[in-house]
Amino acid sequence: MIEIWEIMRLIAIASQKGGTGKTTTAMNLGVCLAERNKKTLLIDIDPQANLTTGLGFDMFELKQTIYHVLSNHHENMPIPCLPTRWPLLDLIPSSLDLASVELEMASRVGREWRLKKAIEIIANQYDYIIIDTPPSLGLLTQNAFMAYEKIIIPLQLHVYALKAIPQLQTTINLIREFNPALHISGIVCTMYDTRNNLSRVIEESVREKFGQIVYTTVIPMNIVIAESPAAGKPVLEYAPNSIGAKAYREFAEEVLLNE
Ligand SMILES: Nc1ncnc2c1ncn2[C@@H]1O[C@H](COP(=O)(O)OP(=O)(O)O)[C@@H](O)[C@H]1O
Ligand SMILES: [Mg+2]
Repeated sequence: MIEIWEIMRLIAIASQKGGTGKTTTAMNLGVCLAERNKKTLLIDIDPQANLTTGLGFDMFELKQTIYHVLSNHHENMPIPCLPTRWPLLDLIPSSLDLASVELEMASRVGREWRLKKAIEIIANQYDYIIIDTPPSLGLLTQNAFMAYEKIIIPLQLHVYALKAIPQLQTTINLIREFNPALHISGIVCTMYDTRNNLSRVIEESVREKFGQIVYTTVIPMNIVIAESPAAGKPVLEYAPNSIGAKAYREFAEEVLLNE
């Protein structure tokens, strides 16, 4: 097992706020890596299941989801890594019943380690395993942080952008007691709005504060990115020549270079 964990690239996409571009970033990074010949698994651990539906899956037709992986009832079930339209991209989908899993698991021993145990079973099949987390630091995100080393934070460029990071850092420091390798490996600025100065000013302060770990690539505000989930497609497929798709391709290149 040790060898696998050393070569495995586990990336958690997280931020405590909703609507910062986590799901969009997880989905498009996953697709880019798969297109670059990296065998990639996306895990949706958000009860809102936006990653699952954004890739075109019908939540109500799914028999097995991350809920079944995390709840204790299905100890010996195979892990549901579903194929997607991309040959090298799989998805462990989410579903609404995941919302109740935190309550169900509340009194169980080892509840923070369920995801790590599941990933250990399938880890050697993938080059990258990317997880999209919910906008809270509850049990679901804790499960992700126990299993992962690298966190990429999508940071929406608005006035409160910088406020979200200290809280996340506090949580990371707490988890480090159990998972010392956990760290923020990068911050990606999203929803850059060229129509006013605010985005630029905030981007500058983010770079000043966090320096090296801020990716050079900035994801612009781009309407086709907002439209694509309704079509059940990542922007890379929905509008492959858009500035949004181009930015996500550049971002994925940077992630690969940083490895
Ligand atoms: N760069 C962007 N330009 C325009 N809309 C975006 C962009 N990134 C994300 N969105 C839209 O903003 C909303 C929130 O993004 P999402 O990735 O779901 O955030 P989170 O997962 O952090 O809640 C979604 O409707 C998404 O389509
Ligand atoms: Mg999301």
